[in-house]
Amino acid sequence: MNGGVVDWTPDLSVGVPNLDADHKKLVELLNRVFVAAYAGVEEEVLAGVLAELAAYTKDHFTREEAHLAQRFYPDLPAHKAEHDRLVAELAQISRRAIDERQEGMSADVSEFLRRWLVDHILDRDRAYAEYLKSL
Ligand SMILES: [Fe+2]
Repeated sequence: MNGGVVDWTPDLSVGVPNLDADHKKLVELLNRVFVAAYAGVEEEVLAGVLAELAAYTKDHFTREEAHLAQRFYPDLPAHKAEHDRLVAELAQISRRAIDERQEGMSADVSEFLRRWLVDHILDRDRAYAEYLKSL
């Protein structure tokens, strides 16, 4: 376990420079959450970084949905529903991360957050990346 740290690698590219930039920023914010959680910072500090991640995630989803709507992505309704679910999951797990912060973030929570971003956001986006490439 490397503290949950996540890397953005070029194979995660969706072929849209501004959405790739968003994804890199999400990775950076999540890594800041891990650093803060493992450093055992004050509740407000960790809550602040998590709030920044949540706000940026929502902004990113809005931008991504607009981009896909303009290009008539057929699976947009499902992708949007997934976004809503991910926002709700982040709120829940953030609560746990804050509660656990004194003992340091549990492996459970950091693994959840890593999967939340890598498997559910970055990996799921490959489906629309394929669609955009085919246009
Ligand atoms: Fe995305």
